Amino acid sequence: MKPVFTISLTNDAFPAFILNWQSDTNVTERILAPTLEPWYERHKRDLPWRYTTDPYRIWLSEIILQQTRVVQGKPYYERFVDNYPTVADMARADEQQVLRLWQGLGYYSRARNLHQTACFVTDHLSGKFPDSYRELLKMKGIGSYTAAAVASFAFGERVAVVDGNVYRVLARVFGITEDITTTSAKKTFAGLAARLIGHANDPATYNQAVMEFGAIQCTPISPDCLLCPLQQHCVAYQTGQQHKLPVKARKAPVRERFISYLVFRQGERLALRERTDRDIWQNLFDFYPVETDEPMPDLRGLTLPESVADLVRSGRGMGTPLTDVQLLSHQRIRAVFYQIELSDAVNGVLPGGLQWYTPEQIGALPKPVIITNYLARVLV
Ligand code: ADE
Ligand code: SF4
Repeated sequence: MKPVFTISLTNDAFPAFILNWQSDTNVTERILAPTLEPWYERHKRDLPWRYTTDPYRIWLSEIILQQTRVVQGKPYYERFVDNYPTVADMARADEQQVLRLWQGLGYYSRARNLHQTACFVTDHLSGKFPDSYRELLKMKGIGSYTAAAVASFAFGERVAVVDGNVYRVLARVFGITEDITTTSAKKTFAGLAARLIGHANDPATYNQAVMEFGAIQCTPISPDCLLCPLQQHCVAYQTGQQHKLPVKARKAPVRERFISYLVFRQGERLALRERTDRDIWQNLFDFYPVETDEPMPDLRGLTLPESVADLVRSGRGMGTPLTDVQLLSHQRIRAVFYQIELSDAVNGVLPGGLQWYTPEQIGALPKPVIITNYLARVLV
């Protein structure tokens, strides 16, 4: 196996012995689990879900702890276990009751999935929780992390958990500089984690250990490197890179855009045009757009070419403008639709590349989702 990371330091601040320091990845891979397991036995926090091997309770704890801190999640776990000691008890409750117990944790789809899975296990699996990683993955709301956690903690299956703690610990110890948001990095970490658990004495203990180590020793800010059992193997520590790892690409900020659409209508027909500029929705059809830097509360604030302003003046505004929002990967489009009815007397060439289309023709045109949704609301 080639090293995951080779150090090339030119920094004068590092003493010679560090400049010559080379990580032996093979050794690190072998000692990591056998080092963290006893560390865990000494340092683990006393948490209620660590006293059970009941897959239902472990699953419950892991769903609660997703995106929730341990101190916040613990009382919820205890209340759920009190109210629903078994999966059948949860299945018997109605969704409203489960949601009420969940109140304050946020991400309510987690509670709905929880209840649905409890019903599924009770109704279709005779109340017996799936007992392998593969079968667990088939449950609603159970992804690879939760399946690995339940399979290892409840059934001792040798399958590695990979969560944010694991990314941080492994990136630092092995000096992995790949951006953890990429697919290829996820493969790197999953592969490494799978090899590491192969050296564990007990897969359940090891999985708990690596996460607990990330949570209380190798923390995001100020990891406790001086008292760390992995110190002499840790690439990040030996090269002073703890705070740079893991590498995580910052999300591009969402750009806010405001479009006022003038929807000219004549009888059945609507005026659309093709978007030809190199921008969002290229080659799709929309109405006459006026983009502004700020939200525009009404039509009069818009700056229009004279030909378009004439058309607006010759028409009649129809009802309250509809609004909609569409989230693209890095843009949020807020649209306001002003419907303007033109009389049959208006029959010149339309400005701005607009053309009249019947509802049937419009149906066949390629359109952005925001336009399709608008049409569904007005062409009833
Ligand atoms: N976060 C997610 N799962 C956890 C667990 N089993 N113990 C502590 N923190 C956790
Ligand atoms: Fe984490 Fe520091 Fe230990 Fe490395 S030495 S594993 S960075 S706590």
